[in-house]
Amino acid sequence: MLTLQNASVMRGRMLTLDDVSLSLAAGRTLAVVGESGAGKSTLIAAVLGLVKLHRGRIAWNDAPVATIRPALVMQEPRAAFNPALNLRRSVMEPLTARRLTPDPVRLARFCDGLELPRDLLDRRPDQVSIGQAQRVGILRALIAAPPLVLFDEPLSALDAVTQKHTARLIAQLQAEEGFAALIVTHDLGYAAAYADDIAVLRAGRLQEVQPAHAFIAAPQTEYGHTLRDAAFALGALEHVA
Ligand SMILES: Nc1ncnc2c1ncn2[C@@H]1O[C@H](COP(=O)(O)OP(=O)(O)OP(=O)(O)O)[C@@H](O)[C@H]1O
Ligand SMILES: [Mg+2]
Repeated sequence: MLTLQNASVMRGRMLTLDDVSLSLAAGRTLAVVGESGAGKSTLIAAVLGLVKLHRGRIAWNDAPVATIRPALVMQEPRAAFNPALNLRRSVMEPLTARRLTPDPVRLARFCDGLELPRDLLDRRPDQVSIGQAQRVGILRALIAAPPLVLFDEPLSALDAVTQKHTARLIAQLQAEEGFAALIVTHDLGYAAAYADDIAVLRAGRLQEVQPAHAFIAAPQTEYGHTLRDAAFALGALEHVA
């Protein structure tokens, strides 16, 4: 289980994460929603240990999160890869870094599950579509079977049809692999459709955390209402409400 206890991050003189306490159980999905600048990427950086905590602690079952080697799926699929390497080299990196050899059966199963043609991994990042690159990013994240995968706006670089498709593939793989997913998104429709719990972040502070359906039915805070109502107005919640 991932736990954040009173986690705060200071950037310059500003707390970009301010006293945030959250938990995510093994195999479950937590969506952190909030507008641009809310501190969503900061939260991910803090979980990955890429920024120092000003206060509080973040742990996986009382051990430092780094011990379980969490994986990250980034917003910009192509930027996630070394442009000079073929995708296979990048995908294998989490294994080769630990001197592990890939299991070809597992790799083939992932390629099929993510609808990636067998030869696609022999191309460079600029030789695949953005949607394919994002699915390769997901493949790389899962290859070493991490118990925790962090997704920073995993759908926002994709068109609407590809978003729906990719969201379904992520959920399918999660059901098969059993990893815990921390999904940071400004897309409340996605959060509501796939997350167990929704946490609302604003200006670095946690506003509320609720089971997803409870949040959509009845946000507990004024800001939660504003977000929920805006998503309804956009039609983003039609399929979940
Ligand atoms: N390296 C940095 N140095 C100083 N301030 C930073 C740095 N990175 C982010 N910030 C500030 O921290 C706050 C939170 O930024 P963050 O990137 O976490 O937001 P976000 O919720 O991920 O936004 P977006 O939806 O646009 O990605 C913002 O006010 C931002 O300006
Ligand atoms: Mg961000």
